[in-house]
Amino acid sequence: MPNIIVVGAQWGDEGKGKIIDILSKYADVVARYQGGHNAGHTVVVNEEEFILHLIPSGILHREKICIIGNGVVIDPEALIEEIEGLENRGVAIKDNLFISKNSHLIMPYHRILDRESERSKGVKSIGTTGRGIGPAYVDKMARIGIRMLDLLEPQIFREKLEANLSHINNLLHTIYKTDRLDIEEIISKYMGYVERIGIYITDVSMLINKFMKDGKSILFEGAQGTLLDVDHGTYPYVTSSNATAGGACTGLGIGPTKIDGVLGVSKAYTTRVGGGPFPTELKDETGESLRTKGREYGATTGRPRRCGWLDTVLVRYSVRINGFNGIALTKLDILDEYPEIKICIGYKYKGKIYDEMPHEHSVLWGCEPVYEKIEGWQESTIGIKAYKDLPAKAQAYIKRVEYLVGVSIDIISTSQKRDDTIIKRNPFKDY
Ligand code: IMO
Ligand code: MG
Repeated sequence: MPNIIVVGAQWGDEGKGKIIDILSKYADVVARYQGGHNAGHTVVVNEEEFILHLIPSGILHREKICIIGNGVVIDPEALIEEIEGLENRGVAIKDNLFISKNSHLIMPYHRILDRESERSKGVKSIGTTGRGIGPAYVDKMARIGIRMLDLLEPQIFREKLEANLSHINNLLHTIYKTDRLDIEEIISKYMGYVERIGIYITDVSMLINKFMKDGKSILFEGAQGTLLDVDHGTYPYVTSSNATAGGACTGLGIGPTKIDGVLGVSKAYTTRVGGGPFPTELKDETGESLRTKGREYGATTGRPRRCGWLDTVLVRYSVRINGFNGIALTKLDILDEYPEIKICIGYKYKGKIYDEMPHEHSVLWGCEPVYEKIEGWQESTIGIKAYKDLPAKAQAYIKRVEYLVGVSIDIISTSQKRDDTIIKRNPFKDY
């Protein structure tokens, strides 16, 4: 039974939520492997919109098993809020959710440190979601993180927290001039969380390997995107985890031999939220119209997203980093009305053309995109479900993108709705 990873090919917000929701039908298990509640995966079911932050998007299919891996950082309060929000809307969550013992907890000081560190960076701030993601991963790497399983051993939780607070309270007080945190208050809060989420905590690596042995299919749900990956993204304007395909193995405790395919998700144009270089960003009316038509406002923070034409330099880079078998192209319909559509095929900097992703700050910030112009189709593609029904010029656009990025476009999304999708190759059947 195939195991497929779905990864964002750009700077996040590519429409992974919808693609994962559709593909969940073919999987038994949906597993998140990195990130935290910085993610915002939007799924529309029968006109009803759900935004998932931590819980895998498979949860909207009742019979699917959902797993949160060790690579994820979890704010228990946000998790409980999400569980309750879903339950209030009739989505039952009980024996179908599992959370790794080894996942790291986001603590109250992580949120404070996230915001203070952003404040101190001023104009150079990353524009984080302010949810404590970065500082939680810092503690994980510094080997002072507190993990889910520590919640189950109150004495150990207390000892770890005591050690961390002795340092952090000094930092908060002397450097950031904020109030010290009270250990008893945190302990009582976090022990309260255990009562609510304790039942979900388990050895996820063991569980998922057993599922695979039993022949179950796994869908690995990537959060963020390749260009936000801490190793391969536009560092330092990235998130603090490995959003790329490799993260699925380390983030869940499975071997690379168990993976059967990788699907990249890319919008038909490009967006980014937060700071950092963005070569094809349009600060003009076209950028504004992409934002309006595409409703490009963050699902997590509500911030307006920066918009621009499709950048095939960076999607081709994502193909290389993740080894995509194919791509799901989302929001094609947003390009319907444009008489002319541009595709970025390279960057120009100081007379030199870059057709492979550069990493140098000077080039990324200072380059001019090199565009190819394509005639727009100027017809509605909304709701088209068969490739042959797409306007010829839209097909030409897709073919050109396939050629430029070097893999096939296997899925095309023509609106937010589940059914408005063209599936040319199904990763669970054809990879
Ligand atoms: P999904 O899964 C888009 C961005 C933030 C910021 C940077 C670091 O919905 O695609 P962080 O809070 O993670 O430390 O912020 O990463 N960012 C996202 N951008 N989509 C996301 O998730 C993102 N998660 C984080 O805006 O620039
Ligand atoms: Mg999002």
